Amino acid sequence: MCGIVGYIGGQQAAPLLLEGLTRLEHRGYDSAGVAVLGTGLRIAKKAGRVRDLSDDLPKRFAGKAGIGHTRWATHGPANDVNAHPHTDAKGDVAVVHNGIIDNAGLLRKQLTDDGVDLASETDTEVLAHLIARSDADTLEGRVADALALIDGTYGIAVLHADFPDRIVVARNGSPLIIGVGEKEMHVASDLGALVRYTTTVAHLADGEMATLTAGGFTTYRQDLTSTNKTATLIDVDPAAYDAGEHDSFMHKEMLEQPTAAASVLRGRLDERFGTAHLGGLNMDARETRAIRRVKILGCGSAYYVGQMGASLLEELARIPADAEPASEFRYRNPIIEADTLYVAVSQSGETIDTLLAVQEIRRKGGRVIGLVNVVGSAIARECDGGIYLHAGPEVAVASTKALTNMFLGFALLALQLGRVRDLSIADGKRLIAGLNRLPDQIAEILGQEDQLAETATRLAGAESLFFIGRVRGFPVAREGAQKFKEISYRHAEAYQTSELKHGPLALISEEVPTVAVVPADELTDRNLGALHEIAARRGPLVVVTHADVDLGELGTGPAMIARIDVPRNEPELDPILLTIPLQVLAYHAALRLGHDIDKPRNLAKSVTVE
Ligand code: AGP
Repeated sequence: MCGIVGYIGGQQAAPLLLEGLTRLEHRGYDSAGVAVLGTGLRIAKKAGRVRDLSDDLPKRFAGKAGIGHTRWATHGPANDVNAHPHTDAKGDVAVVHNGIIDNAGLLRKQLTDDGVDLASETDTEVLAHLIARSDADTLEGRVADALALIDGTYGIAVLHADFPDRIVVARNGSPLIIGVGEKEMHVASDLGALVRYTTTVAHLADGEMATLTAGGFTTYRQDLTSTNKTATLIDVDPAAYDAGEHDSFMHKEMLEQPTAAASVLRGRLDERFGTAHLGGLNMDARETRAIRRVKILGCGSAYYVGQMGASLLEELARIPADAEPASEFRYRNPIIEADTLYVAVSQSGETIDTLLAVQEIRRKGGRVIGLVNVVGSAIARECDGGIYLHAGPEVAVASTKALTNMFLGFALLALQLGRVRDLSIADGKRLIAGLNRLPDQIAEILGQEDQLAETATRLAGAESLFFIGRVRGFPVAREGAQKFKEISYRHAEAYQTSELKHGPLALISEEVPTVAVVPADELTDRNLGALHEIAARRGPLVVVTHADVDLGELGTGPAMIARIDVPRNEPELDPILLTIPLQVLAYHAALRLGHDIDKPRNLAKSVTVE
């Protein structure tokens, strides 16, 4: 959601800003704009794509300092006027903003009562006017004065015609990263927009501001006292932010899963004692034994993987565990218990609902650990400890490799908790062997891409689909349906197989295919019974299963579109292998339908507003 870039140095700013905005497109947006400071402040902004903005950019748009933005509409529709940057009435101040100003309504009214004409319907515009009205001597002071009047979340970047040698930025709840170049400085809301230029960066903290000039940067609090932050060189491969030969980041990231899975396991498995070593949990064996319950919180796919994680924890560690959408948790005044371990799961580490749930738990004295991919992100910093997922940067909105690593993070956690409780060393070793087999087995499934693409083509024609599974298979079905709907825009609904005849069977017909998750386990026969009921109503079937499951006459029946066999692992670890082909089906269905896979409509990579 919304992206920010900024540049100040010896080069023309506009091409760099546009390039940076292109790198932020995956965050989700519906309009884009840039402001540059040359001889005066110039603005160009437009609803639509960054390339529309670029095509329409005035010929004379010179300036060596500039800020840019991709907007995901919150206050006011996506149109040229509501696009950022926003300016004051004289056009001296330009502001780009990520986040939401909660008291914008009141501030807009006060400004209007004072005779200010507001051009847009946005919350952000008030900031430009408030900065312009401050009588502080410095731009830093004017921005701080304006921010003192604001309630809400923000990452902002500000240009001012009277202070052409600087950009002032500030953060409260919305990420901003400063990038240090050779006699030039960059700023962006996402590392991916910086790494082409520099990997020497400084992350702003909440409540922190910074001034960027061509020669360097200074950081300070909102009372303008220094925080003396310095930049550090980070170990990141800029190629990770390039799709390379792939048609999309999703495709690239799907195929990276064997390597990513090996990374999250590396150095964390102790074969001798059949356990895992997770130093980042910051809990000793005594504290671990004292845990009576685990509550997992995440949003969307992270919540579905959380459900898989709850099963792992119950099965391996025998601790009651459940998952709940973080977006709901805070609103039911949850009871926080001292002997419950709370686990926040998030790829980005910036999802606002998950972050606010973590803050609520910690405010009430609960212990929270994070399963987070982005190092140093807001959720990672807020937690008492955690497990980094080491999936590498994930750009595509439809999460694949990070979700696989979330599952593996839960497996590691369950193993470690299990081994200080009742899990036997033999079972610990059995699971470690299974975990070590997983990367190759994931690669084996991805090797079936051509056959999966054919099946996806059949599914892409349906307006509506069911995804079904039982117990361990149900979160797999939920995640399969989620992936399918996100990028194919088909109505894909997940149900427990056991619940079919309590309602949804009424919808089964030749037009409504069902993707059924049927592992070889104690429920196989019951699952097959349900598939017969679907086939009897001529519902087309795709069955994701294991090679030793005998589908009987169903396998050759008219209803069968395809059978997809995945390799078997230990039963507790099978859910992640059953999930992989569902990603590939979703990807190829969307490709078949001609959709922009990395930029699904209405969605953003990280949801940073409530
Ligand atoms: C996954 O494909 C989705 N884009 C979405 O459900 C996502 O998992 C959710 O928004 C949570 O994001 P996070 O992991 O960054 O917190």
